[in-house]
Formats: sequence, C-alpha cells, structure tokens
Amino acid sequence: MIIRKSRQEIEGMARAGRVVAGTLALLRDHTEPGAVLRDLDTLAEDYIRSHGGTPTSLGYKGYPAAICISPNELIVHGIPGAYALRDGDIVTYDIGVTLDGLIADSAWTFPVGDVSEQALRLLATGERALYAGIAQARAGNRVGYISAAVQDAVEGAGFAVVKALVGHGVGRHYHEDPQVPNYGPPASGRVLAPGMTLAIEPMITAGSSEIVLHEDEWSISTADGSLSGHFEHTVAITEGEARILTRQPVETAVSASARTGAAT
Ligand code: MF3
Ligand code: CO
Repeated sequence: MIIRKSRQEIEGMARAGRVVAGTLALLRDHTEPGAVLRDLDTLAEDYIRSHGGTPTSLGYKGYPAAICISPNELIVHGIPGAYALRDGDIVTYDIGVTLDGLIADSAWTFPVGDVSEQALRLLATGERALYAGIAQARAGNRVGYISAAVQDAVEGAGFAVVKALVGHGVGRHYHEDPQVPNYGPPASGRVLAPGMTLAIEPMITAGSSEIVLHEDEWSISTADGSLSGHFEHTVAITEGEARILTRQPVETAVSASARTGAAT
C-alpha cells in the first residue's frame, strides 16, 4: 500500500530533508585522508541531534550506528568503525533523519583526495543516473520509468546497477511501498500520483552487479571488489516536476555538470 502524504507532511519531510542535506554537506567538508569513520559518525549524530532530529538508522532493525558509511567496494550499510580514509578512496554516506515523526533519506558518494579517472567517472555517472531517475518521477508515469532511466544512464556509461537493492517509499516509516528498482522496463510498477514520496537511490558498480553480505550481517560489498557509488534523494511527487526534499545547500562541480548533462 502506497501512503500519500498531505501538504503538511511533505513540508515536515522537507524539514527533515534539510537536516539530512546539512549533515551530508558537513561530512563532505570533513572527507579527507585520515578521517576516521567512527568520528564522522559522531559528527553526523551531533549535527542531527543539534538540529532537533534523530538518526533514523540508529537502532533500525538493530543497526548500531547513526549513519551508514561505505568506502570503496562497500555498497551500503557500512558500520562506521576504526577505518581511516585514505587518499584515492571514495566514500558513501547514507543518512536518515527523523524530525517530528517524519523521515528523509539521502546518500552521496564523495572522492577522498585524488581519485582515479575511473572513480570520477563512476561518481559522475551515479549522480547523472539519480537525476535522470528524478526527471521521470512525475504523476502519471510508472515507477518503471524511473528504473529504466537509471539503468540506461548507468549501463550507457559502461557501469552496472546493483539489482538486489532497491529504492523505496519513505515517510513516517523508513521503508514504505513502492519498491523503486534501478533496472527494468518502463511499463512496470505503480502509477505515480501527487503526494507520493520516494527515496530514489541508484547503487552502481564499476564491475559486476553481484553483492556479498559481510560477517557483521550489515555491510554489503561488490562480490568482485570493484568500486561502488550510491546517490539518493528523497523526492515528493507533485503536479509538475518532483520536489527534491534532500537537496544539498552547495552542489559539487560534478553534480552541477551531471544535472545539466555536461561532459565530465
Ligand atoms: N538509509 C538506508 C536506505 O537508503 C537504510 C539504512 S538502514 C540501516 O534505505 F539500518 F542500515 F541503517
Ligand atoms: Co533509502
């Protein structure tokens, strides 16, 4: 069952979304060689709480940290620990914030210092795929329009989408219907209507789309050890273009060019 939100609920999700976006911007500014993931998690949690929110992931199905931090070959659900970022890494922060009972969810992958040409292309492709999906998130379109647009953008650039993990509805619950796959035909899934709120989240790899679950029973990486990127926004379906509820205050150069389709 897809839960459509009222105007007030969407405004509430946008307030949660501003805290999510602020957290991502803060983490981006602290993304440098030597930064310890556990410290970045604390930084994120302090920011979230000082802005009136609670970290949605903490305690969700027993998850033990405030946010998920997934470097390099980790795709999602990395538990921040003692690892210190190194020059040439890429790192994904995935953040849910609950504010007044309403949730927003966003993830972003950033380069650490100087990264490879391939890594930069992967990041630009993930961003471009996210915005291609969002462009299809319109009333009257099926969920499959989003899925197909993401898949085309990723595979067209020579990368792969992870098929075992999907986007989702979001609102008073972290994960609601519908599922939003990052692959599949346009003529699939439910028809979108105003008031629906979706977390659209391409998870992509530079190699195969196979995944492995680690012994901590949370972190998931690419089976072949290839790099992975993850770009997620929470959006509200409107009468026109989707409204992005987790837009970051400052866009990276790479995301600005991804949005306009310029070559990177
Ligand atoms: N934020 C994740 C998502 O994009 C969910 C993380 S659940 C957790 O759907 F428990 F691992 F935090
Ligand atoms: Co999500």
